Formats: sequence, C-alpha cells, structure tokens
Amino acid sequence: MSADALKRDAAARALALVEPGMRLGLGTGSTAKHFVALLGEKVRGGLDVVGVPTSEATRAQAEAEGIRLATLDEFPELDLTVDGADELDDALNLVKGGGGALLREKIVAAASRRMVVIADASKRVATLGAFPLPIEVVPFGLGATRRAVERAIAAAGAAGTLGLRNATDNTPYLTDGGHFILDARLGRIDAPDALAAALATVPGVVEHGLFLGLATGAVIATEDGLVTLGDL
Ligand code: A5P
Repeated sequence: MSADALKRDAAARALALVEPGMRLGLGTGSTAKHFVALLGEKVRGGLDVVGVPTSEATRAQAEAEGIRLATLDEFPELDLTVDGADELDDALNLVKGGGGALLREKIVAAASRRMVVIADASKRVATLGAFPLPIEVVPFGLGATRRAVERAIAAAGAAGTLGLRNATDNTPYLTDGGHFILDARLGRIDAPDALAAALATVPGVVEHGLFLGLATGAVIATEDGLVTLGDL
C-alpha cells in the first residue's frame, strides 16, 4: 500500500471520532489533508461541525470543501484536533512543523480537549530527533537568536547543526505568521522536556516543534492495519 493510502486510512479512522456539533481543530500537512477532504464529504452530506484551521493552506482547503470555519476568538476551547506529525514516540510526544505550521498547530492543539495524531508507520520512532526539529524565530536579530538557540541546545545535552529553512526561490521560508524557521538537525533528542524548556527561554524563539503532552491519542496506519496509541 502506498504511504498516501496509509495516511488516508488513518484519517478515515479519525473521522469516526467526529460527532455532530463538534468544534474541530484542523491540522496541516499531507495526512491532515486527507482528514479535511473526508470531513468535507461528511459536511456536504449534512454533518454540522465547525473547524479552526491551523494554516492558511488548510483554511483554503476547508473553505473549498464547504466546511464552516471559525477562530479561537469565537471558540477558545475545541473538542478535538486531528493533525499529522513528523515523528511520534510511544509516549505520544511529537515533532511537528515540517510543513511550517507548528505555531498555529500548537496553539490549536493546546486549546483542544483531545488531540489525535494521524500518521503512517514511518512516523513512529523510539526516540525523537532524526527529523530536524523546526524552531520558529522572528526575523529581527536572527544572528543573535541563532547563537542563543545553539547554546540552549547544548545546555539541554543535545548537539547538532542549525539551518535556516529556505523557500523554493532560495529566500528564507516565511511562516503564516511572518517568521523564519531554523531546522535543528540533532539526530536524537534524549531529553525533550529539557530541550523544550531551554528553547522557551530564548528571546526571539516564537515556538518550536516539540509537542509534549499535547496529543491524547494516535492512529498509525501500517501495512498490517491500524494501530492506536493513547485514547481515541
Ligand atoms: C505541518 O507544519 C506539520 O506539523 C505537519 O503536521 C507534519 O509535518 C506532518 O505532515 P505530513 O502529514 O505531510 O507528513
């Protein structure tokens, strides 16, 4: 089965968690895209839900699907967020932000009573960190912020290199919030809590892609069927 078919299977399982009247966080990325498409079919069939998108890309897709959208100002608490991940471990700790939407994704996940991750089996890891950790930073003071991020990484007992993410035209990639992303190639993150705490102390760091204690469940699609973690 292709990775895309596996992603769709995971999305379809998560769709079964959606009930009429729910306030939903809508994730970003190729796996979440399947969820939004499947949700759109249900909505056109009469399901009444409201969604808060985690990126402009998801907003555009959800609008095209006819899904009613709202903001966290209107609905500060959501029932369920369904989103992909770049990595997840057995404790439901995640690395996210490969698609650049980590800031809104984390705000939406933190505002949700439940967050269910949907993924194909390639995303499941024993230790986080093989996927570069996205760190969203404000453009002002980039050089100084970068040095401070390097020190924070070292203080948390990790090591690696930082790269400024580029867009396809070779200019710095800009997030929906107008920020840059530093991708930290660490190889492994043995102490994610310590790293998250250290990064949070750096002025200029807006957010990072470690999602710790936010996901409440996961649906992982494997060649042998669906595996679930946590509570669905
Ligand atoms: C977007 O910023 C990311 O957090 C995505 O949710 C994550 O990268 C997973 O994306 P895919 O489903 O495309 O792998």
